[in-house]
Amino acid sequence: MNKYKKYVKNIKLEINKCFSLKELNLIKLKYLGRKGEITKKIKSIKDLSVNKKKKFSILINKIKKKVQNLFYLKKNYFNKINIFKSNIKNDIDISLSYKEPIFGSIHIITQIINDIQSYFSNFGFSIVFGKEIESNYYNFDALNIKKDHPSRNKKDTFWFNSNFLLRTQTSSVQVRVMENCSLPIRIISSGKVYRNDSSLTHSPMFHQIEGLLIDKGISFSNLKWMMYNFLKNFFSKKIKIRFRSSYFPFTTPSAEIDIFNKNSNKWLEVLGCGMVHPNVLKNVNIDSKIYSGLAFGIGIERLTMLKYNISNIRSFFKNDLRFLKQFK
Ligand code: DAH
Repeated sequence: MNKYKKYVKNIKLEINKCFSLKELNLIKLKYLGRKGEITKKIKSIKDLSVNKKKKFSILINKIKKKVQNLFYLKKNYFNKINIFKSNIKNDIDISLSYKEPIFGSIHIITQIINDIQSYFSNFGFSIVFGKEIESNYYNFDALNIKKDHPSRNKKDTFWFNSNFLLRTQTSSVQVRVMENCSLPIRIISSGKVYRNDSSLTHSPMFHQIEGLLIDKGISFSNLKWMMYNFLKNFFSKKIKIRFRSSYFPFTTPSAEIDIFNKNSNKWLEVLGCGMVHPNVLKNVNIDSKIYSGLAFGIGIERLTMLKYNISNIRSFFKNDLRFLKQFK
């Protein structure tokens, strides 16, 4: 038995020493070829006595299998080396470690806008787009905003010239829609608005969603129901909501809605709303004796900050992946 183990060991040494596939094939021929040593041994079994035949054939087949396996492994090794060499030629370094692919995701502000839009779509609101560069008329005049209103101020608003500006509110969409669409109207419009303001909670550019519903018999209770249910749904938990009487030139009565923030123990304003002012309806020739409307404007960043307890509005725009990844 030892004799045969030694025999296999010697073949193994011979294979280990060989440096090319060509050399390997020659060694293989020497042992396993038609006239190879092992083949000859197998052929000689027939000349043995019945007793020896069985024992020897088991042994020689074992050796044959082992040696075949040694050749197989060495051949594989040469193949791998060849692939490696050709990769180097093609400048591919297969030894480089695997890098996790980085997948992008939708920005949290866009996610929130999409969610709010789909919420209101369920109530039959269609989505419309407004212009970021607006005229004095649509941003202010047509919305019943007086000539001396502070928001028209040169300091607070980004003006291009005396007539055009970066819109300060998505409410500018209201009049364009009322001019162009037939009644009844149910629209929602999201986008960027601009004000010269910068702090932890204010950014010169931020996002709003405007809602407008004009129909016969629309009342303040419709507005209240709609806003209340929207906010309950948005925060998906029990929240305290307060309607606070307020003033906007384009709505009457007007209200601001606050929600109670448990962390700061304070009421925080989240949106403005009201019944469309008869003067605004008059500007677009809608008879306010027949039709009435509700409108609302939601600050997206403000709402998102409250939902996720974010303290600095700039986090949304810094493109810090550690922040953005939280909302994947
Ligand atoms: N445009 C207002 C703002 O930017 C928000 C607003 C208030 C919109 C009342 C409305 C509304 O449609 O009815 O502060």
